[in-house]
Amino acid sequence: MFKPSFNEAFVRGSKLKKLLKTKFVGSNIFWFEKVSSTNDVAYFLLKKGFKEGLVVLADTQTQGRGRKGKNFFSPKGGLWLSIIFSPRNPETIYFIQYLLCIAVSLVLKEFLGVKTAIKWPNDVLIEEKKVCGVLVENKFSGNILEAAIGGIGLNINFPVESFPHILRKTATTLYSELKHEIDFFNLCKKLLEKIDSLYFSLEKGGKDKLLKLYRELSPVFGRKVKIRNREVIEGLALTLSPKGGLLIKKLNGEVVEVFEGSIVNGKGQN
Ligand code: BTN
Repeated sequence: MFKPSFNEAFVRGSKLKKLLKTKFVGSNIFWFEKVSSTNDVAYFLLKKGFKEGLVVLADTQTQGRGRKGKNFFSPKGGLWLSIIFSPRNPETIYFIQYLLCIAVSLVLKEFLGVKTAIKWPNDVLIEEKKVCGVLVENKFSGNILEAAIGGIGLNINFPVESFPHILRKTATTLYSELKHEIDFFNLCKKLLEKIDSLYFSLEKGGKDKLLKLYRELSPVFGRKVKIRNREVIEGLALTLSPKGGLLIKKLNGEVVEVFEGSIVNGKGQN
């Protein structure tokens, strides 16, 4: 069985750590060759006493996980990353998933000139194809939140042809969109710095600023949507609630708050 070496991962991560200009993110960085899931390794390290800002990266994941327990295809060339957050501001926890999508969108625009749209709740699309997924897992000890593990899967330096057939029509990679390799290390550095600055601002009460960014990047608001959850909910997407839910005005006029689900009218769904 493959056993990741923590020493090696620490050495690989330390080059990135040295170059980062951040307040929280990257307090420790472990960069593995292969793990089951970076979210699981981050949680393991949390239990070992590592704190907020810990970053776990892996070249590949053997059991990358998406929302609703789905497998997440994680070959070499992609960015498979998890971060530990321990928010002090109680509001922050509801918005970490949105923050991570915003950070990815902004960095792709600023660093590579790539225009993206966020598909509620947390997929980043290029021309309606998914390039990135976000999975935030809140870990509790009894009723107390231990930490949120924020995972990002961004398809970078591999061609669309590497995907299993079923994903080829709905997913994309930066390599396939831009037709050249991307400076992985620099993109990763910029992304961690962007997450850090957005997180700092959110913790200081900058929720409205973050929501404004989400509104600019996600075309969902003001549109008719059909969301598959335990049931199918159809209506007009109004805004995000203070707890991070999507407020939908149903056809009968009732307003409901939805926290999970997939928008099924539109491409790019998983
Ligand atoms: C989704 O699209 O449903 C979310 C995908 C999240 C994938 C990332 S890759 C890094 C981290 N580790 C995991 O096992 N999942 C997340």
